[in-house]
Amino acid sequence: MMRMQIIIVGAGSLGLMYAARLAGSGAEVMLAARGEKQAASLRDGGICLEEAGLQSRRYPVMATELDKAGAGMQPGADDWIWLTVKQSHLTDAFMDKLRLSGLLARGASLLALQNGIGHMERLQSHFPENPLYAAVTTEGALRTADTRVRYTGHGVFTFGKWPKAAEDGDKTQKMLLETLHAAGIEAELSNDMGNRIYQKLLINAVINPLTAIHGIPNGILAEDPGLRQEMADLHAESEKILLAAGMTAAGDSWGRLLQVCRQTANNESSMLGDVKAGRLTEIDWINGGISSLAKRYGLLSPLNDAVTNAVKSLSKS
Ligand code: PAF
Repeated sequence: MMRMQIIIVGAGSLGLMYAARLAGSGAEVMLAARGEKQAASLRDGGICLEEAGLQSRRYPVMATELDKAGAGMQPGADDWIWLTVKQSHLTDAFMDKLRLSGLLARGASLLALQNGIGHMERLQSHFPENPLYAAVTTEGALRTADTRVRYTGHGVFTFGKWPKAAEDGDKTQKMLLETLHAAGIEAELSNDMGNRIYQKLLINAVINPLTAIHGIPNGILAEDPGLRQEMADLHAESEKILLAAGMTAAGDSWGRLLQVCRQTANNESSMLGDVKAGRLTEIDWINGGISSLAKRYGLLSPLNDAVTNAVKSLSKS
């Protein structure tokens, strides 16, 4: 029997971290990097994964540029293409490049792991023939060089069909779940990903802009009383809007937010990383996305508007 292939498009923090852990467990993984220079370094030296309290390890991995990926691998219906690039990279030009790579030509499943909202609808309209999956993760990772990544916080990887499927996970989903578990990745299947995306959005809408604006790691947010109040206000406004937009209340969302801050205490949020590196941030799809939902449901979103403007003034977007 052929083994399941996982092609990870995007060799940033999450792409490198998951590729290393999957490759380390014997899964057949290939990374599609942005440029040949990074792809060549990955082919030559593998991925170096650093984890607190453990010695860093190198994991050999197959790697290529996205344009050439389809020539090396021909993923079919039992295989997966993971998109781990940021929302800001999902431009029409990127979608064309992905189509031209040929990776999706034989019916592989497409799994998207972006923060924020808007990406699933866009992917669905660009790739209507491929089974589409949404994924969210509360794990933390920080890329420290082209081939080095630090695993900064344990969490859960949740994935499921988009749009929502009536049936429970099929064979392909269950195989991926087993592969993730075999790699020591805490993972679960969900048939309610719209809701999971909103719940994750609520976490990102608080942690990401506030850490970026104040230039601090996630843990400090929950410790400092002044910052904790800013968190509480932004959380309350965002939750109200997301509930109006259809998110189902799921217990103590404030407690979960504090837990993610603690679990990823030493992590630099992806938005702080983008601001520091002068890259485009995901603010338009996170707090900007919540402000758009507020407009649609006749609500005000002064705090989301304010942090969107503040982050934009710090970054390129
Ligand atoms: O975007 C991020 O940085 C992450 O989603 C999270 C969970 C906030 C941890 O830093």
